[in-house]
Amino acid sequence: MPMEKLSERIMFMPPDPAYDRPMLGYIKGDRFSIAIDAGSSEEHIRLFYSELEKEQLPLPELTILTHSHWDHSFALAYTNGLSLANEKTCSHLQAIAKTDPEELFRSYISEDYSFLRKEYKTPSSLDIRVPDISFRKSLRIDAGGITLSLMHVISPHTDDSTLILIPSEKILFIGDASSGEILSDADLESGGRYRKEELSSFIKTLRKLDATTIVHSHWQPVPAEEEISYLEGILAEF
Ligand SMILES: [Fe+2]
Repeated sequence: MPMEKLSERIMFMPPDPAYDRPMLGYIKGDRFSIAIDAGSSEEHIRLFYSELEKEQLPLPELTILTHSHWDHSFALAYTNGLSLANEKTCSHLQAIAKTDPEELFRSYISEDYSFLRKEYKTPSSLDIRVPDISFRKSLRIDAGGITLSLMHVISPHTDDSTLILIPSEKILFIGDASSGEILSDADLESGGRYRKEELSSFIKTLRKLDATTIVHSHWQPVPAEEEISYLEGILAEF
């Protein structure tokens, strides 16, 4: 799946709905490059790295997780370089890493794990890792010629959503933050269960940020105004 370009320095490998694999982002700095999310499995991240190699782009030396959900984090064991997430994401992954793999395999994403099973045939194939570096609330990263602004925000999807804003390009990576809570395959179909307070807070956050393009993990990039209107439509239904 070839890389798609959002600007000279920002690219992504598109999501793959057949496996529920999220997009994997790439930011090319002069001093080092950064990936957004590790992906769901070794196969997923190998695919990403092979696309980078085809484009003669250096492998990321830092991988930032948008949140702890398995499709974004379970390939952490296979990343190049260091990894980073907010402290809540790190604590969720610590708990997951301690869980018996059989139990994890059985219970992850409630009783529905069809996509997990597509990537992992046996519980013993799971190798859960915790990011190397954690941050609280916000963090600024200068990769050389491009700066990223990370924020741990309230979102309707999880309690550990990190947004990544690249102010120079007005591009905002949101992970799954604008989806509702996903507890089953049925929630995946419907876009998830929303709670009014978190949704309202998230819309306010999006309004405050100076972004023109929003990059979802499981959807194509959209204009920020379009995203805000969509979420306001959901909020109006409460
Ligand atoms: Fe998620």
